[in-house]
Amino acid sequence: MDFREFYGRDPEGVWRAPGRVNLIGEHTDYNDGFVLPFAVAQGITATAARRDDGVLELRSVQSPDAVRASDPRPGEVTGWAAYAAGVAWALREAGHEVGGASVLIDSDLPQGAGLSSSAALECAVGLALCDLYGIEVPRPELARIAQRAENDFVGMPCGIMDQSASLLCTEGHALLLDCRSGLSSQVPLDLTGFSLLVIDTRAEHELVDGGYASRRAACEKAAELLGVPALRDVEDLAAALKVLDDPVLRRRTQHVVTDNHRVQAVVGLLRAGAVAEVGALLTASHLSLRDQFEISWPEADVAVEEAVRAGARGARMVGGGFGGSVIALVPTDRDEQVREAVTAAYADRSWEAPRFLEAIPSPGAHRVS
Ligand code: GLA
Repeated sequence: MDFREFYGRDPEGVWRAPGRVNLIGEHTDYNDGFVLPFAVAQGITATAARRDDGVLELRSVQSPDAVRASDPRPGEVTGWAAYAAGVAWALREAGHEVGGASVLIDSDLPQGAGLSSSAALECAVGLALCDLYGIEVPRPELARIAQRAENDFVGMPCGIMDQSASLLCTEGHALLLDCRSGLSSQVPLDLTGFSLLVIDTRAEHELVDGGYASRRAACEKAAELLGVPALRDVEDLAAALKVLDDPVLRRRTQHVVTDNHRVQAVVGLLRAGAVAEVGALLTASHLSLRDQFEISWPEADVAVEEAVRAGARGARMVGGGFGGSVIALVPTDRDEQVREAVTAAYADRSWEAPRFLEAIPSPGAHRVS
């Protein structure tokens, strides 16, 4: 089905926003730290046209339910459409005059793989509405508006990484983002001889429930006890760990501080053209997420272990945790072995077979036509 069949008229344009893989820097964004995501080739397309009755009508090729709302408030739209309606709301809250629109959403991002389909949806719709109504919003600002939609309309206390990745990434690069200043730079991701293999562990995650929010709350508590604005500001980790009595807060702090350093180390290695050396840091990040931040899941741990055993230079879970994907840095000539080893290990445990996808560092959100 295309836009004409759904709405009986022609669209005014097509906008596309990609999903992302985060190379490293996990749960560092809301701690004012550093992240290093890149956009993938898969994403979300919004085909849209203005309407003069002020109504926002949302349909999706993948889902039967349609949503019609005029000026929806938080809580009035649920499910996938909340991410789209939330952006219209957040744009208006930021003082931009967006009117009604008919929007058709289409996605080629694998469902539940943790490649940030929600941010891609927000960014595709956000770009479409801005273009349709001639609103000029700098992209870092649009990322914050999309994040506000997710925080205050959907109710998921995410940081700024996913929306920034979808809007700011460029082909062949990872995005180094300082989540405090909002400043970013493009880091060349030259993968000659390697591939970044996404292993979808088929364990789905639901970030709107407690695990993500409780990690965020623990980090904020630790920063407060340490007397710093955010864990980003911890300079002497050993001293900080002595101040914190609660072993859980110590573990959370240890992860955030060390992962921030790992981002910087990976950026240095990439700029030096030493992509192979990045692998060990990916695995170190995974162990930290598993043991210190405690957000890994069995399918991810097995995928990391088997991928490395079969020749990957390193691997880690990506995203919020509790489900989704693992990324592995695989020498091109080990690709088959890695896929086979992970598939066999899942079969041994009677788990659903993993899905594989090669992540290609791709352009950020743009107007297609
Ligand atoms: C989710 C959130 C991001 C970030 C990651 C963890 O993807 O949306 O803001 O916090 O988890 O790094």
